[in-house]
Amino acid sequence: VAGVTSPFPASAVRSIRRAVLAFYDARRRPLPWRASPDPYRVWISEIMLQQTRVETVVPYYERWLARFPDLDALADAEPDAVLAAWAGLGYYSRARNLHRAARLVRERHGGRLPETAAALQALPGMGEYTAGAIASIAFGRAEPAIDGNVRRVLARVLDIEAPAPAALRATAAALVPARRPGDFNQALMELGATVCTPRRPACHRCPLARWCAARANGTQHERPAPRRAAPVPTFAVGTALVRTREGRVLVARRPEHGLLAGLWEFPGAELRPGETARAAARRVARRLTRRARLGRAIPLASVEHAFSHRRETYHVHRFDIDAPAGDAPPATPVRWLEPAALRTLAMPAAQRRIAAAFLDGGTDPSRRARA
Ligand code: ADE
Repeated sequence: VAGVTSPFPASAVRSIRRAVLAFYDARRRPLPWRASPDPYRVWISEIMLQQTRVETVVPYYERWLARFPDLDALADAEPDAVLAAWAGLGYYSRARNLHRAARLVRERHGGRLPETAAALQALPGMGEYTAGAIASIAFGRAEPAIDGNVRRVLARVLDIEAPAPAALRATAAALVPARRPGDFNQALMELGATVCTPRRPACHRCPLARWCAARANGTQHERPAPRRAAPVPTFAVGTALVRTREGRVLVARRPEHGLLAGLWEFPGAELRPGETARAAARRVARRLTRRARLGRAIPLASVEHAFSHRRETYHVHRFDIDAPAGDAPPATPVRWLEPAALRTLAMPAAQRRIAAAFLDGGTDPSRRARA
């Protein structure tokens, strides 16, 4: 990239590029989005990979492409279909932004993703990293792309404890070549994921070892220093799995805004001071089934989920009711589903684990699932 100062002399830059690309050619994992540089596919993969591990993303990516094979298919889709295809991946604003961006690209860019990092960054859900990744991988532009893995690799090469974004950007921009910039960026990600790992970097296998200041100084385990994480509070939730005589189960839709917006769940409530999970679950079940007589609470499972800013533990109790599927208060959209329909409902990951505990555990209350 022109106009950036490199911490390395030009000859080292050339050798580094060669070593990194050779590593990529020899060691890259055959990931599905690497089979073709189709911009739409690269885009989907990079958004999915933003906060989610490669192993988790792969099956979602494949189902997504079967469902929405190109930008038009995504732009045409109903919001609920998009949410359902994303359900379980977390950070759901990514799906809403993808959908909005697909419609914008069709309206403003003739259905083709813009090619520069700057124009890409103007789209919803597209930060500096993702724009750089797409510009380099899909459009061959020499743009840096610094995700968490690349940050660690560069912090070690430079031996910096708390690398400033500007320093990382300057280094990555100086290194990324005009030829094969997308491969180079993915090679750095791959290095971070498979060799320059947080705990046990395999320096003897690293193509950058010769240039790595942390390795020379023996500080690779301390670079970069862990960012101090804010303590995350835990909330206990009493969750009700209400089942009718015919075996239908109650699910409720979350509000349109806020955490897990628009997704379906087994209804629950945070415990009030002094309240037990069983009582909270009963309170919810009663509110949503006013005319039915609730049976006793049967503990089904406790499932924990960590969001970025809070943890929740769902203490799930089953209630059998003696009435058929009923109405709910108008403020709460609910459905009474055949159990098999749970498998395709747009539910967040923790709710899917609850559904699995229910479906696999059958009616035997002595079986408890822990997730
Ligand atoms: N993480 C983010 N983007 C990636 C990519 N293209 N390949 C592997 N891991 C990634």
